[in-house]
Amino acid sequence: MEAQKTVMQSRRRRLWEALDERLGLSALRYPVPAHANTLGYMLGGITLFGFLILIATGIYLTQFYNPDPSQAHDSVVYLVEQTTFGDLVRSIHYWTANLVVVTVLLHLLRIFFAGAYKRPREANWLVGLALLAITIGFVFTGTVLKWDQEAYEAMLHNMAFSELLGGIGSWFSPSFTLSVPMLTRLYAVHIAVLPALFLILIAIHLMLVKYHGISPLPTLNARAGTWGKEGTGRFSAHLRRMVGYGLWLLALAGVLALLWPAPLGYPPVPGAEVTKPPWLFLWLYAFENWVGTAGLLWPPLVLFLLLALVPFLDRSPYLAPRKRPVTVTLGVVLLLFLVGLSVYVALTPPVSHIQGQGMGG
Ligand code: HEM
Repeated sequence: MEAQKTVMQSRRRRLWEALDERLGLSALRYPVPAHANTLGYMLGGITLFGFLILIATGIYLTQFYNPDPSQAHDSVVYLVEQTTFGDLVRSIHYWTANLVVVTVLLHLLRIFFAGAYKRPREANWLVGLALLAITIGFVFTGTVLKWDQEAYEAMLHNMAFSELLGGIGSWFSPSFTLSVPMLTRLYAVHIAVLPALFLILIAIHLMLVKYHGISPLPTLNARAGTWGKEGTGRFSAHLRRMVGYGLWLLALAGVLALLWPAPLGYPPVPGAEVTKPPWLFLWLYAFENWVGTAGLLWPPLVLFLLLALVPFLDRSPYLAPRKRPVTVTLGVVLLLFLVGLSVYVALTPPVSHIQGQGMGG
């Protein structure tokens, strides 16, 4: 028995050595601080795993989805009703997208409260913001694809947005080209443009994380300017934990998908405006209620600008939230304001903002 165990162990070691020689796997055992393996510091990794689930399920969905406006809704019905696991895969895609928005926002909050955007990580904070914008773009274009009433109204907002942008907005308008319908172009954005941008930016994001190492815990005396290249943890253990948490995310999306399959409304009725946007955009809807479609442009622009300025306005050398009371208080007030607006919109009936526009599909 003992001899058999020793043979197995030496076989396993030889296999590991052979793989390591060819793939350089032991390079992943570099040291990281122990706290890098805690949940708060894994949120970016969990988000990344979520994106991998979205890519895998998304590829399956593209086999059945037809981005022609006259076929799109029917192709989703076909996918849900006639294909093997179509409904389940679509619902996992839908729930993972929702969960990824939650994890990316929690990741941002962790960075904010831990002061991890401070020197030398300012540039990576900006890259992160671009990744957030891309995530929002994925949610928006994904909402349009199912081509029901909610999707149609989301696209009307795309056109209103293009008008607000004036000349540079023409790319977002149906009149930019007469040869391809707007829905088909948004599909191309969802499955090609945004994934390409995402891959480029995530590569830079991870390269910078590796370059600086993870930021220190925000203890009372922790200061900006600290690199995180040493510690008792190992990156290989971090990676294993990331996969573990990622599989929990997949399991959660699977359970949610079985309990509440992804919604699909009736085919769109032109001219009607009766739905509210996905939860991520609810706060924006409140501005639209107050100031009309101009509310689609200025509030998100101001919000992103404020976020982009955070590392440059918060000049305190300390990381601990207690030593940055002004920044942290402003952040909490802003967060409560956005959550409050979203809850308010969720509880009030939908309002019509854009009327009389054509289908433009
Ligand atoms: C699609 C979205 C994103 C993905 C997949 C992602 C992924 C990651 C990963 C894997 C890490 C390593 C540490 C960790 O997991 O916390 C990280 C760190 C970091 N991320 Fe992100 N991220 C995303 C969005 C963002 C956003 C929205 C921001 C902020 C605006 C941001 C800013 C940062 C910063 C500054 C670090 C370094 C943190 C430190 O050293 O403590 N990221 N990100």
